[in-house]
Amino acid sequence: MESAGRKLSIIGAGAVGTSIAYAALIRGVARTVALVDVNADKVAAEVLDLSHGLEFVPRAKVIGSPDPAVCADSDVVIFTAGAKQKPGQTRLELAEATIDLTRRALPPIVEAAPNARYVMVTNPVDVITYAALKFTGLPRSQLFGSGTVLDSSRLRFLLSEHCRVAVQNVHAYIAGEHGDSEIPLWSSATIGGVPLLDWEPTTGGELLDAAARDAIRAEVVGSAYRIIQGKGATNYAIGLASARIAEAVLDDEHRVLPVSSLIEDDFHGISDVCLSLPTVVDADGAGARLPIALSTDELSGLRSSAQTLKDMQNKFGL
Ligand code: LAC
Repeated sequence: MESAGRKLSIIGAGAVGTSIAYAALIRGVARTVALVDVNADKVAAEVLDLSHGLEFVPRAKVIGSPDPAVCADSDVVIFTAGAKQKPGQTRLELAEATIDLTRRALPPIVEAAPNARYVMVTNPVDVITYAALKFTGLPRSQLFGSGTVLDSSRLRFLLSEHCRVAVQNVHAYIAGEHGDSEIPLWSSATIGGVPLLDWEPTTGGELLDAAARDAIRAEVVGSAYRIIQGKGATNYAIGLASARIAEAVLDDEHRVLPVSSLIEDDFHGISDVCLSLPTVVDADGAGARLPIALSTDELSGLRSSAQTLKDMQNKFGL
């Protein structure tokens, strides 16, 4: 994307939104970071606090307002506004209030920034992404969700610890819902180029047998609940993950990320739902899904995850 502005707007100046802003500034993702929040005092304070650190990060400026007009000419808009997940509360239980909030909040933002790529982060992110596409009429490439980018980074972290290799050498995806029905794609995962299912603990790590894989999946699914129980919210990793997605768009990277996008065609009997699969992310937003091989169990799990999301879509008349 040409360097005209490189403007990133973030809707919602809560823990997640401000963590995204902070991560984006440190990574030098954008030249302008705009924060929007209905709480004028909060957004003004966050803008000040972030601005006071600008000496220490790549050149950027931080602006903010309760008025969505501050998003004008954004290249990327990340949407984090919504209710916080309470301890023990599932992401899907957040849906009704957040769908209504999204229905009201999005149109004036799209009016201010009609050409931006929109990344939904608000939970339940897959259902909110589907709803946002309906409310805005934007194409699937231009509006998509953070999906399981965070879950996949949790999986990679756990595998790197388990196998005692650098996390950068672990290539593994979580697919489906960003939530309890998500699916690890074990059959296509590799560790340092070695297929995960052929892994031998030659690096001083542990076996990766079925029991170990089940335990790792359970830890990935339980991560957010565990963190929320301890500190009330998750914010740092989702902040980094979301800033990374924005970077892939702004730098036209053609980066493969498991973002949540609308399945408009027929993907193994799955259609008309937003869920995560490895997808090329570039200046146009969410592009082609990779034709990743799925085992019978993985496909079955993905179909079940898709049904969970479609049931939620139907429940709220989307
Ligand atoms: C989490 C939130 C972002 O998984 O859903 O931490």
